[in-house]
Formats: sequence, C-alpha cells, structure tokens
Amino acid sequence: MSDPKIIIALDYPEARPALALADRLEPSLCRLKVGKELFTATGPALLEQLMQRGFEVFLDLKFHDIPNTTAQACKAAASLGVWMVNVHALGGRRMMEAAVDAMVGSTQRPKLIAVTVLTSMAQEDLSELGINATPAEMVLRLAVLARDSGLDGVVCSAQEAALLRSHCGNNFCLVTPGIRPAQASLAGKLLAGHPDDQSRVMTPLAALQAGASYLVIGRPITQASDPLRALHEISQQIKGMA
Ligand code: C5P
Repeated sequence: MSDPKIIIALDYPEARPALALADRLEPSLCRLKVGKELFTATGPALLEQLMQRGFEVFLDLKFHDIPNTTAQACKAAASLGVWMVNVHALGGRRMMEAAVDAMVGSTQRPKLIAVTVLTSMAQEDLSELGINATPAEMVLRLAVLARDSGLDGVVCSAQEAALLRSHCGNNFCLVTPGIRPAQASLAGKLLAGHPDDQSRVMTPLAALQAGASYLVIGRPITQASDPLRALHEISQQIKGMA
C-alpha cells in the first residue's frame, strides 16, 4: 500500500469547499487533515465522505483533558476510522498512556501523535505560564515524554525535525507543517497580495531530508489554481524520499 508523505490541510469553514477540493485531488498522492474549524462545522459525516472518496484522514483535534476523557475521545476517533489523531503532550504521561490503551482494541488503530509546544508560543508566553525552559527545551522534553508514553510521534516544525529524530529514534513519526514548495510559481501565488503567516518555513524535500515523516501542506495546494498539478509537482520534488 502506498504511504503518501503529503497531508493536505483542509482549512475550510464548511463541507462544500473541502469536498470540492477533495474531488480535485488524488488519494494515492496525499492524505487530508481535518481540524477543529471544519470538524466542528461538519461533524463525522464529512470524514465519512472523504473516506468514501478513498482518502485517509488526520483528525487534528488536539485533545487535552483528564486521562479518561481524552482516552474516550481517542477511542471515538478510532471508531470513525481515521488514520491519525492527536493530543496535547502537556496533558502528561498518564493522559497519553490512557489514550494509547483506549485505542488498543480498535480494528484499525489510528496513529496517535502529540502536539508539543504550540509554535505560536514564544519564550515570554512560557514564562508567563511559569515554565522556565526555552521553547526548544520544552519541545524536546515533551516529544521524549510522548514517545515514552507509547505515542507514535509528534507534530513539530521542520527546523526541529533533525534534533527530534536523533533523540526519539527512527520509528518515531514526525509530522511537520510550515512547508513551502521550492517552485517560485507556487510560493509566489501564495504570497501575492497575501503575506504568508508562516515565518519559519522549509521546502518539502529539505523537511524530509531533515527527518520529517509526513508534511502538512495547506495553502500552497489548496489555493493553487490547479491543486492536483501543485500536488503532482510537490510529489515529484520528493520522489526519491517517498
Ligand atoms: O496553509 P499552510 O500550509 O500554512 O497550513 C498549515 C497547516 O498546518 C494549517 O492547518 C495549520 O493550522 C497547521 N499547523 C501549522 N503550524 C503548526 C501546527 C499546525 O501551520 N505548528
């Protein structure tokens, strides 16, 4: 079975544009990420429709609650048949272990990954929470905790991938957003009139070379005039790595 490295972020407020985009894509080349906005608006029915079209889905709901509640939420996600689901590592070891245990009996156990430190958080934000470590130290600490709690991987920036790969081993799954394609044509389209809000970006190939397992890519594909062509071009760039 193919294991496409590209996960396309369906950052839409409703089902219609998400399904319209899915209809222009190819499940053998990508998976799809459904986050809080789209899932809250559409519910599991949309996941069903995407999976009927042959896509595997990363349900990006970043669960963070007491162990029992998080575990049951993960179990519910597993019963929806999603390929990947995530939690906040800040929920701690007991929460993460409970989530792993809850999904053990699932017919198709989704990959369970953790968010470490939100990339929106800077040193001052951590200090204000009473956390004295630097964001980089916290990312590493939480990634190792996620691995030790039995999780399959973490979401991280491509800049962190090499460090986390060396500390967490080859089987740990690193899912990296903040990807911008090498082709000026695609990057240029995104930037024209809409300043990009991703500040620390990496090309798809460089991210995989740095140790990323999967690339989360949104606007370079969703806003392209021909999304399938953009997907093909990026797939081509990473061919040797996939
Ligand atoms: O359009 P773009 O490629 O920037 O989309 C990236 C996707 O990855 C969005 O869904 C965004 O919420 C998500 N993401 C991110 N940075 C993180 C975690 C998630 O951009 N640190």
